[in-house]
Amino acid sequence: MMKKALLMLAAAASVTALFAADTPKTNLGKLYEKDFLIGVALNQRITSQQDKQRAELAASQFNCLTPENCMKWDATEPQEGKFNFGPGDDLVKYAQKNKIKIHGHTLIWHSQTPQWVFQGENGQPATRELVLKRMKNHIEGVMKHYKGKVDAWDVVNEAFNEDGTLRNSRWKQIVGDDFIEKAFEFARAADPSAKLVYNDYNAYNPSKRDGIAKLAKELKKKGLIDAVGMQAHYLIDYPSTKLIEDAIKKYADAGVMVMVTEMDVDVLPRSNGRVTADISATQEYQEKNNPYTKGLPDDVSKKLADRYEDIFKVFLKHSKNMYSVTVWGLDDGTSWLNGFPVRGRTNHPLLFDRQLKQKPCYDALVKLKQQQGLRK
Ligand code: XIL
Repeated sequence: MMKKALLMLAAAASVTALFAADTPKTNLGKLYEKDFLIGVALNQRITSQQDKQRAELAASQFNCLTPENCMKWDATEPQEGKFNFGPGDDLVKYAQKNKIKIHGHTLIWHSQTPQWVFQGENGQPATRELVLKRMKNHIEGVMKHYKGKVDAWDVVNEAFNEDGTLRNSRWKQIVGDDFIEKAFEFARAADPSAKLVYNDYNAYNPSKRDGIAKLAKELKKKGLIDAVGMQAHYLIDYPSTKLIEDAIKKYADAGVMVMVTEMDVDVLPRSNGRVTADISATQEYQEKNNPYTKGLPDDVSKKLADRYEDIFKVFLKHSKNMYSVTVWGLDDGTSWLNGFPVRGRTNHPLLFDRQLKQKPCYDALVKLKQQQGLRK
């Protein structure tokens, strides 16, 4: 009996040892806690804790989380006035249990928004009044439900073109240019304690950046905005850290905080070169653009680690203006970049690999912070 118990104990200990070896000893959020929050976007299988392994790993590393899809309009209000908060409530439960802050994403966007929002009577487009009424009802419905539980909200997502003009979305077409200000007004009234964010990709691009900064300044004067969210869907060699730094400074000068909301670093070739996160900008599959199906070669992995490190150096330098840095996904296996802009590829953009093992880019961020600590 005694012998059997001892054997079981030994077996349990070796299992623990196995897991301990695989789980990083560092907690990234804790390591950076004096600088900014370290966040992660999580899918619904993780936040409902069906995917236990990932739920545990995320909770051991991050102190902020963004719902990857379950708080978008098509999920929260699929039919007019019929709100669905189930998956979001599961997420809140998971976050509260693990003392993780929530970055709400997203209230007003041109994508993942049901068609009914823009439809009026008899197949006609809805009027400005009707769309504004629906906007207000949506923002109030969602924000009041999560009042006091969601720390910051992406109020408007991706409203700018690359040249700094406003995207010709249904929102702009029907409501007009003031749809952004209206959304922020409704949001401020719905939950005055939530931080309100304007969020966009390519927010480093000077012409787009200047348009966003101008908007931020105007909204700030009216007390309607707290931060600009730089999505930060980057490539391994673009944009330069100079462009990233210039943008952070520009937003800070506009009087708002910076949140890095969706960071990942695409390591795969793009057939059309330049970087975009416009979700309609998909491309054809070509074998030559999917070179790392068997894993990331060491030299590329090193390059990726250097890239993360260089970018985080900029974030640390400006930490007084930075509220949070969030990666868009926990691990390479669950990254949206396996399906965007080309379907069916094997991408490696995040801090953990497909086996949920920390990658050299994770280690680089730990080392960077530890070295900074030593220099102080
Ligand atoms: C992506 C999700 O990761 C995917 O699961 C979904 O199919 C499409 O949207 N910018 C954003 C995010 O603001 O909401 C997008 O998320 C990625 C680009």
